[in-house]
Amino acid sequence: MSVWRIKGGSALEGSLTIQGSKNAVLPILAATILTGCETELTNCPALRDVEASLNILRYLGCRVERQEDVIRVDSRPMTGCVIPCELTREMRSSVIFLGAVLARCGEARLSMPGGCELGPRPIDLHLSAMEALGSQVRGEGGEIFCSAPMLRGGIVHLELPSVGATENAMIAACAARGETVITNAAREPEIVDLQNFLRAMGADIDGAGTPVVTIHSFTPADRVGYRIMPDRIAAATMLCACACAGGDVELRGIDSRQTESVTENLEAMGAEVARQSHRLRIRCRQRLRGGRTVITQPYPGFPTDAQPLMMAASLKAEGTTVFVENIFTNRYRQTEELKRLGADIRTEGRVAIITGVERLHGAPVRAEDLRGGASLILAGLGAEGETAVTDRGHVDRGYEGLDKALNALGAQVIKYESEN
Ligand code: UD1
Repeated sequence: MSVWRIKGGSALEGSLTIQGSKNAVLPILAATILTGCETELTNCPALRDVEASLNILRYLGCRVERQEDVIRVDSRPMTGCVIPCELTREMRSSVIFLGAVLARCGEARLSMPGGCELGPRPIDLHLSAMEALGSQVRGEGGEIFCSAPMLRGGIVHLELPSVGATENAMIAACAARGETVITNAAREPEIVDLQNFLRAMGADIDGAGTPVVTIHSFTPADRVGYRIMPDRIAAATMLCACACAGGDVELRGIDSRQTESVTENLEAMGAEVARQSHRLRIRCRQRLRGGRTVITQPYPGFPTDAQPLMMAASLKAEGTTVFVENIFTNRYRQTEELKRLGADIRTEGRVAIITGVERLHGAPVRAEDLRGGASLILAGLGAEGETAVTDRGHVDRGYEGLDKALNALGAQVIKYESEN
């Protein structure tokens, strides 16, 4: 159990470089096994989910090395096609290995842990994408079996633009005979990053970033080098941290277009934002204004992962801010805990209504999920007195040294491990 002790009231000042993207590196690590080759990835964040992926790769027989932000995977010795429960339990998004293992081995067996903290997390779209590529799919006793001695290209239509299902289909389609067209594909920047990585691996693929992705052919490379994109949600976290605490913060090493829906909202609330292509500067010198409706949507709409962060930034904003969560059913778990800090929040189904308060006060609270946990830490920065966030490791799944990054900007955050 980690405890984050936040002494609120210090404005944030300074500049920092944003970590590599969690949601980009996970599918790319899975894709390294598409063929037997050596891959070197740079800008990899040090996160629990990344470690869990490396353990899966090791279990499958790959040689894996990590040195600071560089991960080397040699997938030539890979032999396994089964991922057991002990490993999939460690990472909710381990289903992302399905397409890659199937593509490499002609079969895949994955243990699927049940629902997760954001509500039911179905994988029907992943499975129907594998079927559309000619795989047989069976589910039994919490395990998924896929088998396709030869995958064949075709049309993969996704009922919803699921990020993970799009990634799984792109990876599996590389090994399919003939062309694959994915329609209603997710358009998130991480999909574009995966496309760029697959190109480096030898795929002739285009369309990522639009609703139609086409995989034409694949000529495997022996060695691949690739740099992971910056983490747009970590960037959103720092922007919202500045909105909560006040101050003047510059973010480097980012793509400022990818955080546009977040910066636009913060500007409308009264923050000053200066953009350059790989830098952003945010200044929050006075009380922010509420009044906007924040509606989560697939990219380029407002990201569901940034919703709890923007909520923290709205708690003291003057007026009323409405949130509509359209992606996950259980994504307001932070609200009860935020109320302990004095926040005025009403929730009804998909909608949350925040009435800005003048002051928040520190209190003991509990992180229930990754971004919800970050939201509590951010709210603590803007609260009077001390907030103690207890967390069963959720926040470390997504942030590399969040405490150190905040402290480097002048925050007062102490993180320690506790027995209970
Ligand atoms: C990814 C991100 C996660 C982000 C989410 C939405 C990773 C590792 N995680 O998750 O941080 O919050 O995108 O931007 O990249 N759905 C189905 N059937 C399926 C798959 C999904 O009904 O087979 C539904 C989900 O329940 C959800 C919606 O589709 O309501 C979007 O989920 P999806 O885009 O698949 O999210 P993930 O890929 O799991």
